[in-house]
Amino acid sequence: MRALVYHGPGQKSWEEVPDRTIVDDTDAIVRVDAVTICGTDLHILKGDVPTVTDGRILGHEAVGTVERVGSGVKTLKEGDRVLVSCITSCGSCRFCREGRYGQCLGGGGWILGHLIDGTQAEYVRVPFADTSTYKVPDGVSDEQILMLADILPTGYEVGVLNGTVRPGDVVAIVGAGPIGLAAIMGARLFSPSHIIAIDLADSRLDAAKQFGADIVINNGREDARAVIFDLTNGLGADVSIEAVGVPATFELAVQLARPGGHIANIGVHGEPATLHLEEQWIRDITVTTGLVDTYTTPTLLRLVRRGQLDSAKFVTHHFTLDEFEAAYDVFGRAADTGALKVVLTRS
Ligand SMILES: NC(=O)c1ccc[n+]([C@@H]2O[C@H](COP(=O)([O-])OP(=O)(O)OC[C@H]3O[C@@H](n4cnc5c(N)ncnc54)[C@H](O)[C@@H]3O)[C@@H](O)[C@H]2O)c1
Ligand SMILES: [Zn+2]
Ligand SMILES: [Zn+2]
Repeated sequence: MRALVYHGPGQKSWEEVPDRTIVDDTDAIVRVDAVTICGTDLHILKGDVPTVTDGRILGHEAVGTVERVGSGVKTLKEGDRVLVSCITSCGSCRFCREGRYGQCLGGGGWILGHLIDGTQAEYVRVPFADTSTYKVPDGVSDEQILMLADILPTGYEVGVLNGTVRPGDVVAIVGAGPIGLAAIMGARLFSPSHIIAIDLADSRLDAAKQFGADIVINNGREDARAVIFDLTNGLGADVSIEAVGVPATFELAVQLARPGGHIANIGVHGEPATLHLEEQWIRDITVTTGLVDTYTTPTLLRLVRRGQLDSAKFVTHHFTLDEFEAAYDVFGRAADTGALKVVLTRS
């Protein structure tokens, strides 16, 4: 079979690799029908994730068809259409039993395209297949479901739910990439009074408007704090969500929250960011962090199926699997190409 293989920083190729085989009896082999690229894959290619080593097949998001199952798989059979989630779950460890699958102690967590071969391939081996895949209901398309593999649960769980968005809230979202946009989409389910998107790229702010932000701020030109304080009689946002992953945006997100407000950090940080306790200790704030667990995937699936979540809206570009080089190029130059999510399918 063919797959997109990582060969060290800056190096990748779509090449012939050995066919996938069942290793553990709880594995399934899934034929990949649709797959996408994540910002995290770009981080890996820059060499930011050293736990990904030469020879690793990338990718942690896919929709596919079950080709084969191990003898221990109980709920899946050949021919089932499934979502392969970015988080794998053993289903039985302490954290999986709390729905905290991202922290799985039994060999799951974020492993696909990281510690084991991933989904950017013609086939993928999915460990703990019963608890790491979701059957795709009839009537929803591959690309609608594909957005539930990572970005939608991430924006919803780590942003909206950790931030405890409530009806009438003023919600500020720093960063309007796919994750910030997913947080906008998720926040809208709770009828906030305002959603304010903050980004340096006008193209991303245009997308934020289309996704339902009613106020957008380019913080390269405008003072986000002044706009939000004006809007809230000097108090700040009820919920402030960080969806970038650099120190400046974390510090901004903290400043934007009102006393008693929530700051939900989603961004993956590579360097220290300062929490100014000398200013913040008195303000009753709550700061949350998190890796996505994907415990909300069944909820999001129901919302997509009922037409209450327009998940396909993220898809800006289409390719076939043998066009991975072009797809990475378009996705990697998002500011020029306007790419949000690219989808690759079998030709
Ligand atoms: N916690 C999790 O489980 C989890 C899961 C997936 C992704 N992430 C992280 O979420 C973050 C966002 O992901 P993404 O795919 O949307 O990334 P992205 O790079 O596509 O988007 C980031 C956006 O932030 C904007 N930006 C950059 N610097 C800024 C600044 N100083 N002020 C305002 N805006 C700024 C960029 O213009 C861009 O639109 C990343 O750090 C990613 O690694 C976290
Ligand atoms: Zn991802
Ligand atoms: Zn587990």
